[in-house]
This record gives sequence, C-alpha cells and structure tokens, in this order.
Amino acid sequence: MSQSFLPLCRPAVDEKDIQAVVDVLRSGWITTGPKNADLESKISEHTGAPYAVALSSATAGMHLVLLALGIGPGDEVITPSLTWVSTINMITLVGAKPVFVDVDVDTLMTDAEKIEPLITDKTKLIIPVHYAGASLDLDPIYALGERFGIPVVEDAAHALGAEYQGQPIGARGTCLFSMHAIKNVTTAEGGVFTTFDAELADKIRRLKFHGLGVDAFDRETQGRAPQAEVIEPGFKYNMPDICAVLALGQMDRIAEITAARTELALSYREKLSVIKGVTPLGLANHDHKHCWHLMIVRIDPAQAGITRDELIAKLKEKGIGAGIHFKACHTQKYYRENYAERFGAITPNLENTEHNSQQICSLPLFPDMTQEDVTRVVNAVSEIIG
Ligand SMILES: Cc1ncc(COP(=O)(O)O)c(C=O)c1O
Repeated sequence: MSQSFLPLCRPAVDEKDIQAVVDVLRSGWITTGPKNADLESKISEHTGAPYAVALSSATAGMHLVLLALGIGPGDEVITPSLTWVSTINMITLVGAKPVFVDVDVDTLMTDAEKIEPLITDKTKLIIPVHYAGASLDLDPIYALGERFGIPVVEDAAHALGAEYQGQPIGARGTCLFSMHAIKNVTTAEGGVFTTFDAELADKIRRLKFHGLGVDAFDRETQGRAPQAEVIEPGFKYNMPDICAVLALGQMDRIAEITAARTELALSYREKLSVIKGVTPLGLANHDHKHCWHLMIVRIDPAQAGITRDELIAKLKEKGIGAGIHFKACHTQKYYRENYAERFGAITPNLENTEHNSQQICSLPLFPDMTQEDVTRVVNAVSEIIG
C-alpha cells in the first residue's frame, strides 16, 4: 500500500485553537480587535520587548519599518541575498539599494565582519537574518550598528522560540517575526513587529491602518470620535482577529512546539550523518538556542551523484514534500536582469551564498511528525542517492 503524502510542514494547530477561531467567528468581531491585543501582549511577554504590533505579514512590517525610518532613493540597506525575496523587494520598492552581504558557508548567517566593509555614508539600515531557527551572533552586529550610528532590524521571521545568550529573540532590539502558514507559530498569514522604541512602535501602528491615530476597535471600545483623523497616509496592513486568535494557544505551547521540533531535527541529523553528499547546516558556535524552523541539508552533486533539484523531484515521487529556503535573491530573474542597471555592480563576493543557493534542500519538519516519518525521509534520501 502506498504511504500518504508527507508534507514539508503542517501547522501545529489543535482542536482548542480551531474552537477559538470558531468563537471569534461567532463573536461578531472578526477583524482587528481584542485578539490582536492578546497576541501583542503574549509576544511582548515572550520576547521582553515592550511594544508589539500585529500585522498582515512580516513583509508588510518590512515595508513599514523602511518607511518609518525614512529610507528611500539614494539610501543603502545591507542584508543577505540568501533570504526570502520579500525583504529585497521592499527595499527596492521604497527606492533604496539592497546591498548584499555574504553568509557563513555552514550556518547561512551573516556577521559583523562581513557587514562592516559594506558600510558607506549611504547605509541607513542593517537587516541581518536569523536563519532556519538559529540565532545570529547579535552582540557584534549591534556594536557595529552603534559604532556607525546605523539602526539594526533583525529579520526574525524564522526565530520565534529561539534564544541568544539565554534570552528570547526579540529581547535585544527591533525585530520582525513572521506567522505565515509554515512558521513555528502561525496565524495563516501574519507578522509581528517588536521594539523597545515607543515612537517607532507608534509610527508602525499608525501606518498599518491608513495613517489613522486609532483603529475601528479603539473607536468602538474607547468611545473615540466615529471618524478618526488621518495623521499621515498609511496602508491596510492590519491582522484580522480570526487570524490572531489562532496563534494564542500556540504561543502558550511554544516551549512544547520547539521541543518537538528539536527532537525531530536532532534525530534527522544523526540518521543523515551516514549518507554521503548530504550535509545538514552547521551549528553556530555562539551561545544560542535553536528553534528548528527548518531542517536544511546541502546536496553535493559530486558526492551524492544527484543534484538538489533531482532529489526534490524524486522525493516528491515517493510522496515526500521538500523545499528550497532560499534561492539567492540576486539570482532571481528581476534582480539578475535589473540590479546592475538600477544599482550598479554587485561588489561583494557572494561565494557562500551562491554555493548554498544551489545545494540547499529543506526536508519535512513539523511537531506532529513522528520518528517513523523521519526514518521514512532518511531512507528515501538514502535510496535515491544509492
Ligand atoms: C527570512 C524571511 N524573511 C521575511 C519573510 C516574510 O514573511 P511573511 O511571509 O510573513 O511576509 C519570510 C517568509 O517566509 C522569511 O522566510
């Protein structure tokens, strides 16, 4: 009998979470309201950041933070090319130049040493990426930002539940978390911006809802004027309560979710270690706790006798989902064809980015997977490679 399809991921949603969504649907208030406020409080409590703003996505948050920091034409933003393309798109769409920094060949994360030579008098922001659930080495990056007077916004899309030096990601500075469907804690689509900067938080809160000082829920509950004033033109980047409520139970279970992912990932690493040409990502040496958002391996075609793309296709034939996180952004069609003309030549050597962009493959990893599922994937990889 053929086995059922094993997807790359499945949200960690239980019956109580489903009931909570149904309750919101029945409550009569389905868009931004009390469940947003609850989610923001839970994220603040978890991260230690005093301000949290729930948004329609982390991409929306990236757009808003760039605008809130006044970044536009003539400015440069340093970030890796090995990231989800949303960041590069947002930088480009506000008219600034994405300056690509290379990553470590094994952890896929950048560091202060690689960032420093790229700083110019046009650099207005540094966006380092916590990768796959591991934490960046934040202290040297913040020290660099402080030395040059350049703000840092951590791309923590993968990092809810991860820690740096014993503190949750979010405890050190301004962060953007994603709650997209495949993330460790999900609202289907969504993101949360966190910061210690009250003024920045106010600005993000205002820009996420038309540039009004208040939203519909504030007006309803706080008896403010039925028509609020536009303080500055803004967007419609708020999160509905039917989404926000989905994450509340997951936030209460975040330690369990992380523990389940960790156990599966460590089992994968052990079982995969005997397969030639398949190498899991390296673990960073600095003090951190991984939240295992993704189980990434590199496929070396010279040793494995197969390319990463062939492996993904063959896994699919065997009923196993796999993915690529990520294809380097500078190799995407638009940036391949337009970057040089818009922004000039890409100067830093992106050797580690390009090497990994061709070899990385994400294997199924989600808390409801079993050890048998891990064995099934490892056996499939082993059979395909021979
Ligand atoms: C590294 C990284 N940054 C940003 C994002 C954007 O998140 P969202 O899908 O919530 O907009 C993602 C999404 O996968 C991501 O992986």
